Amino acid sequence: MAYTIKVNGKSRTVDVDGDTPLLWVLRDVLDMKGTKFGCGISQCGACTVHLDGAPTRACVTPVSAVGSAQVSTIESMQADPVGQKVQAAWMELDVPQCGYCQAGQIMAATALLRRTPQPTDADIDQAMSGNLCRCNTYTRIRAAIKRAAGLPTADTRA
Ligand code: FES
Ligand code: FES
Repeated sequence: MAYTIKVNGKSRTVDVDGDTPLLWVLRDVLDMKGTKFGCGISQCGACTVHLDGAPTRACVTPVSAVGSAQVSTIESMQADPVGQKVQAAWMELDVPQCGYCQAGQIMAATALLRRTPQPTDADIDQAMSGNLCRCNTYTRIRAAIKRAAGLPTADTRA
């Protein structure tokens, strides 16, 4: 069946079963590989995208459930004012190690800073707790979120 969804500001029509996860539509049909597959069961956050600005697990979101919501992926974050700040902070503090989880981390962090521009540690914990990093970059992720928010933070690259 054909579904027309809005991805990064463009209408895209895809011919897939309605229960196809949005993640596979993005990666395999639309060839947008920035959004990653980790667990497939909403447990790791690697597949995080935004639906109307809300962080959403694409691996458990059927394409039929997207409807008229605006889908935003990591590929659009350079055109997003908050996403730009987050990515700049990520680069300044050399956050990634293997990098596999980082698209999802950036999407979760950007959603957090849009709704809470000056987050507390508790806000960061709550927003980021579902995004796992096997390389244990959590300290740098926290620092980069604070850097993007203009809050004081220690340089964590040592
Ligand atoms: S791949 Fe979606 S939460 Fe892990
Ligand atoms: S940087 Fe390797 S899993 Fe997070």
